[in-house]
Amino acid sequence: MKLTHCIVAGLVCAGSAECQSPSGIHAEAGIEQRVEALVGRMTLDEKIGQMSQSTSMSTPLSGAIREEIRRGRWGSFLNAGSPADRAEAQRIARHESRLGIPLLFGRDVIHGYRTIFPIPLGQAASWDPELIGQAARIAASEAAREGIRWAFAPMLDVARDPRWGRIAESPGEDPYLGAAMATAIVRGFQGESLADPSSIAACAKHFAAYGAVEAGRDYNSAWVPEVLLREVYLRAFHAAADAGAASFMTSFNALNGVPASGNALLLATILRGEWKYRGMVVSDYNAIEEMIAHGYAADGADAARKALTAGVDMEMVSTDYFDHLKSLVGRGLADSKHIDDAVHNILRLKFRLGLFDESIPAPAESGVTPESLALARRLAAESAVLLQNKGGLLPLSESLGSLAAIGPLADSPIDQMGTWVMDGRPKDVETPLAALRSQLGEGRVFYAPGLRNSRDASRAGFAAALDAARRADVVVFFLGEEQILSGEARSRAFLNLPGAQDDLVAAIAALGKPMAAVIMAGRPLTFQETAARVNAVLYAFHPGSMGGPALADLLFGRGTPSGKLTATFPRTVGQVPIYYAHLNTGRPAPQDASGIPVGNPAQPEGYTSKYIDADFTPEYPFGYGLSYTRFDYSNLKLSSAFMTRTGTVTVSADIANTGNREGTEIVQLYIRDLVASVAQPVRALKGFRRVPLGPGEKSTVSFTLDAAALAFYNQHNQLVTEPGRFQVWIAPDSAHGVEGEFTLR
Ligand code: BGC
Repeated sequence: MKLTHCIVAGLVCAGSAECQSPSGIHAEAGIEQRVEALVGRMTLDEKIGQMSQSTSMSTPLSGAIREEIRRGRWGSFLNAGSPADRAEAQRIARHESRLGIPLLFGRDVIHGYRTIFPIPLGQAASWDPELIGQAARIAASEAAREGIRWAFAPMLDVARDPRWGRIAESPGEDPYLGAAMATAIVRGFQGESLADPSSIAACAKHFAAYGAVEAGRDYNSAWVPEVLLREVYLRAFHAAADAGAASFMTSFNALNGVPASGNALLLATILRGEWKYRGMVVSDYNAIEEMIAHGYAADGADAARKALTAGVDMEMVSTDYFDHLKSLVGRGLADSKHIDDAVHNILRLKFRLGLFDESIPAPAESGVTPESLALARRLAAESAVLLQNKGGLLPLSESLGSLAAIGPLADSPIDQMGTWVMDGRPKDVETPLAALRSQLGEGRVFYAPGLRNSRDASRAGFAAALDAARRADVVVFFLGEEQILSGEARSRAFLNLPGAQDDLVAAIAALGKPMAAVIMAGRPLTFQETAARVNAVLYAFHPGSMGGPALADLLFGRGTPSGKLTATFPRTVGQVPIYYAHLNTGRPAPQDASGIPVGNPAQPEGYTSKYIDADFTPEYPFGYGLSYTRFDYSNLKLSSAFMTRTGTVTVSADIANTGNREGTEIVQLYIRDLVASVAQPVRALKGFRRVPLGPGEKSTVSFTLDAAALAFYNQHNQLVTEPGRFQVWIAPDSAHGVEGEFTLR
């Protein structure tokens, strides 16, 4: 992995956007001196105030909070106040506090602010970092306009367990893809310069290994060997640091027994030491105090000391820093150098954002615009994954007589927006029902939800749904999960379609009509029963404000699905965790292995790594997704059968659109290191490209690999490349593709 180093105003800076932006370099010059001078004038109380973040800000501002701001009690507020409250609080901080230090307002801007884009797991399925970056830019400008200059995103937790509700917020299971998303979102939020008033500071979270919580239960512990931590869980964070992410947030979980907010290996050794990170570190919500419940800190004072020493600059919500740091310093139990370092990191960010220099913007409201909605529509269309299309039911013909829209998610603006939406407005959402009605005309769309919500187990609405279906030529179901079933603290022990959704599909299937199912959900679900009954399945995740028109476009072929899964879909919850980049084991099962023969004595071939009561392969592999056209992969070529440590190998293959529609194929590059001192996965993603192709068109797609792309962490946690044979695939997904081999010498 590479560290970005450059010299800015006599300082070595790593992982700063300004390293890449000459204009940024000028904006940054002098900041360090200003920070230094200001810290020199601060009292210990004022320093600890800067290190404290609160969520409580009443509307309108109470006298008490005004007084606290005046006294410098808080450095930051999160998810608090109206635009007018924030402007007024900022006025008080700037003009009535002793040193005029501005406040920093943070917020969960996770997949849009006013304009809601698909949930991050859906966005990742577009494999389109450029578009994702543009969406982040729109979110930044909408948030900044309302006085928010810090987003608690991107969420970069590799998630390999769909029971975990926060998989919705993540880029999925792969570190390479996660790193690409991290870079795109950080750049989108932060723009050319943080000082641009429409830029906001990014926050790479949750550092680290939160996606590995045991049993997929939120806040649970994670046990991750350091090799795996570095190989899988940290890569996207390192990319975020390299892209200049202005801040990091610690995670709630204990990692190998040490809560992240007191974890010196993560914060001091790796983040600050190895990565030379100079941004700000904030704890997660109450996470410093929670180190007591973890059994890692004796009390609040102990928690404050441990968090400070590990390297947490700002405490979110709990008040252990405020309550104890002063006395800890007085008793010689905390190092005031750590406090100064933390305050430097906080003030540096405030200076970089221009908060000291700009006049306080008048309170303003953001709103959606035609441009923001157009981008949301495009991203929702690119995020949908076609999983099945029996008999080529999709796309539907525009000349179709009528359609029945059935299911609890056909017309549910809030659910369609997905988890973590604080600022999106239902009135700005266009549902599939609304879009179908406006595109086809009211008279051609028969609507019956069938169920009141996704968890409804009653069959009371079935009769109306049957009636609607009977009258229509085609049935389109809108199924899935309500938004409240995914996200934080929304772990599930079952992955099925909740409520009576399968029964609803079964009841309507009896009519024998052509049927498609659109599934909107915050995680990979298991839905074989429904998939077996319908012709087509289009997986839309929670698609955001413009999900309706985007899906209607895809259903009627005004666009062609191109999304591909970034998390493996299991056949059953019992297979979890299941992911493509697993090791081979000493006894890999043959692809068709399942069950054990009846009445047969044990046979050696039966002793392989599988299940006796379920197939061991996934329902849909990582990278999978169909199109309305077909893509054929052939002719894999390598520029050389050998690579030297300083050289490269270029791998290419021909991708042909052999169908009769245009489409975009997401072409994936995978490798396998066949023999290594730490066994390597059966496949690892090393590149991808979106390739648009017209009908009959063919393109040669090539990727260049260097030795760095082949590097892995050895048993001593060092990044190394070892000579040997490598398999390589250019592939439509993680289970197929054209294959070759080369040797690293
Ligand atoms: C979540 C974070 C979030 C924070 C502030 C926590 O509960 O884990 O992801 O940014 O709250 O809302």
